[in-house]
Amino acid sequence: MKALILAGGAGTRLRPITHTRAKQLVPVANKPILFYGIEAMVAAGITEIGVIVGDTRDEVMGALGDGSQFRAAISYIPQDEPLGLAHCVLIAREFLGDDDFVMYLGDNLLEQDLAAFTAAFEQARAGSTPPDAQILLKQVPDPHRFGIAVLDDAGDVVTLVEKPADPPSDLALVGVYLFDASIHEAVASIAPSPRGELEITDAIQWLVDQGRRVRCELLTGWWIDTGKLTPLLEANRLLLERIDTHIAGSVDAASVIDGRVQVAEGAQIINSTIRGPVSIGPGAVIEDSFIGPFSAVGARCRVSQSEIEHSVLMDDSSVIEIPRLEDSLIGSFAEVSRTRRKPRSLRLMVGDHCQIDIE
Ligand code: TTP
Repeated sequence: MKALILAGGAGTRLRPITHTRAKQLVPVANKPILFYGIEAMVAAGITEIGVIVGDTRDEVMGALGDGSQFRAAISYIPQDEPLGLAHCVLIAREFLGDDDFVMYLGDNLLEQDLAAFTAAFEQARAGSTPPDAQILLKQVPDPHRFGIAVLDDAGDVVTLVEKPADPPSDLALVGVYLFDASIHEAVASIAPSPRGELEITDAIQWLVDQGRRVRCELLTGWWIDTGKLTPLLEANRLLLERIDTHIAGSVDAASVIDGRVQVAEGAQIINSTIRGPVSIGPGAVIEDSFIGPFSAVGARCRVSQSEIEHSVLMDDSSVIEIPRLEDSLIGSFAEVSRTRRKPRSLRLMVGDHCQIDIE
């Protein structure tokens, strides 16, 4: 089995961060989102991975390389324009050959591992009515915001609808799909949707309409589509919940470390309180500050005379003399500082290289 990971797209909902970087490389708990997906593939025994790349291809290729850091072999498939998830399958035809594959949206994060999901497909494929595809579903309270599946009595997929005004079920499609080679005929047979994209839901519906079997698995753990600020911070929180204390950097005698905290190599904590779960990246300097729960401070960041909580600071950014920064995402090399009066509390999404001076 191969994997197709989608890391192109526009990322409009995470601007300004995505003006300058791939949304799949935004870090959560100090690791790029995309790395979790690739690690999940490798853990499920899938090491032949194709990655769809768009405008941000240089950055994605620079971060993943040839895949050897993940013990995988990565091939890149360039997509000139984000023409839809089914378009990604269309252009990956040569890489995929006639093999079964997992398709995974590179900005999604799942709590559960993928091994059980792929094993269930392989087992069903060996049975008397082998499926051609398998989707992953999660019960959601707000189905009108998602692609929704309707199942028959046997639990197989009958209909898929995108963001229905009047949802026929509460089972949302999670960004992980399994296909056999019949999907290639499906993606070649459908027409673009009103929004101009080749939709994977239309391709799966085509399979069903041709009498093919599409089975499903229900996801019990959490699933987050990190494409927007609030879910991204939520993913950061859920992943920080899992960390263990590890102090490799230096913590001076005037500082307090409370709860599960990671301080990476070369980081310095000076006269500060760190209340976990918190991850401090390599070479970061935290001085006269408070870093509160669910914060991830990237490599070489500088935080001085500030309070930060429930926020992500990307590499090389700095926060200076800010009384309180919460629920924020600060881009790489951004500087947030204050020259005169004190603002009470800030909630910011700051793009890479920005300078914000609060007067
Ligand atoms: P989406 O979040 O559906 O789309 P997007 O990246 O264009 O984002 P936005 O809506 O904020 O503009 O994409 C899901 C994943 O699939 C994401 O990792 C990007 C990737 N993708 C591609 O690689 N090619 C495509 O044609 C599309 C539509 C998405």
